[in-house]
Amino acid sequence: VSGSSVPVIVAIDGPAGAGKSTVSRSLAQRLGLGHLDTGAMYRAVTAAVLRAGIDPDDERAVADLCTNLRIVLESGTVLVDGVDVTEEIRGPLVTAAVSAVAANSAVRADLVARQRSWAVERGGGVLEGRDIGSVVFPDAVLKVYLTASARTRAQRRVAEAGGDVEAIERSIMERDQRDAGRVDSPLRATSDAVVVDSTQRSVDSIVDDLEALVTTALGARATTDGGLSR
Ligand code: DC
Repeated sequence: VSGSSVPVIVAIDGPAGAGKSTVSRSLAQRLGLGHLDTGAMYRAVTAAVLRAGIDPDDERAVADLCTNLRIVLESGTVLVDGVDVTEEIRGPLVTAAVSAVAANSAVRADLVARQRSWAVERGGGVLEGRDIGSVVFPDAVLKVYLTASARTRAQRRVAEAGGDVEAIERSIMERDQRDAGRVDSPLRATSDAVVVDSTQRSVDSIVDDLEALVTTALGARATTDGGLSR
């Protein structure tokens, strides 16, 4: 993917455990683009909130803390103000508190601005989250809504980290409901998103399809933009 002056943005949204990270990483590599896990940013803020002993529902205090945080996502590690929170952000405490932090509009505005700068500085990227196609980059060259049955998503979590499938399925569904039911930027598929159900599909076959869709979309964009200086 090169020769374009307009950033090449691929948006991958969907509920927890749908396979967004695996698919986004693989697609980014094939396209020669960077990958940004925006969920890890909300989790990083949540870890900092818990470390500071702040109540995740205290909107003002959480927003103030977020503004001054230095969040670095690089080669698989997550640093918050220089502290490595890579493991901590996947733990149960952060997972239980992250929806409250993600519902905070000031935090969202701050992180969305950081996500836009990240992508623009790099000339594009594959961004995964809940609101990438709806809010962060509504003009993304490709928007994907990746989903899977709740049971499959729970089984994948258990295969990765262990636990009881039914309990994890319940907690995944609760978090989906909070993410889809919140007022600011709820999880939803935009009408122009390609909906992909990963329940019965391999990562490679999904990535093959998405790569082809990006190529087609870039071709169409080049034609539309042809002759225009942008
Ligand atoms: O993808 P994840 O499970 O790591 O995301 C953690 C939480 O952050 C999830 O409950 C929803 C929220 N989130 C969000 O609101 N917007 C995003 N762009 C990414 C994640």
